[in-house]
Amino acid sequence: MATRNIAVIVGSLRKESFTRKVAHSLIEQAPPGLQMEIVELRDLPMYNEDDEGAHAPAAWIAFRDRIRQADAVLFCTPEYNRSVPGVLKNAIDVGSRPYGKAAWSGKPCAVISVSPGALGGFGANHHLRQSLPFLDMPCMPAPEAYVGGIAGKIKDGALADDATRAFLKTFVDAFAAWVERHAS
Ligand SMILES: Cc1cc2nc3c(=O)[nH]c(=O)nc-3n(C[C@H](O)[C@H](O)[C@H](O)COP(=O)(O)O)c2cc1C
Repeated sequence: MATRNIAVIVGSLRKESFTRKVAHSLIEQAPPGLQMEIVELRDLPMYNEDDEGAHAPAAWIAFRDRIRQADAVLFCTPEYNRSVPGVLKNAIDVGSRPYGKAAWSGKPCAVISVSPGALGGFGANHHLRQSLPFLDMPCMPAPEAYVGGIAGKIKDGALADDATRAFLKTFVDAFAAWVERHAS
């Protein structure tokens, strides 16, 4: 089986981000055919259509190129006010333009949401899913992944809950199969 290059997008800039720790657990548990790497959002300027063209920020160009190189995308999102954090929405917007040249187009993807709350970021997860058909991204329908109560599942800076780790393994294996199904 060919190696598939996966761009992992983490919608948090926080140093001790729970979402990033979950992303790390997914990366650690990925099957051999998936090469998963976090694409950093920290230096991505806010999208402004006035800045497109010859003077577009270098960070936008680099981000779009990085997404284009990926075979698939894994979105890992926290929940801010029952939606996705602005940093993640900005990344989606940057990658979606110039019009007709979206870097995301045709890439299979999956969404996982993470929260200290009981709902596991359900609102963010589904707000994010709303953008995906418009971006022409086939999104893995199941298993759905809402990781709640995350604060109690971290020990010594890493995910330490066996049931959650086992679920993440199921999720990342299903994602590998989804990517393979959509491989061009
Ligand atoms: C502006 C803001 C809005 C938030 N809104 C929600 C929310 O709607 N639902 C929720 O479960 N948690 C909410 N939280 C709490 C986050 O889930 C929590 O800060 C979490 O640690 C963020 O993810 P991270 O650890 O990956 O940075 C909010 C936090 C912030 C800073």
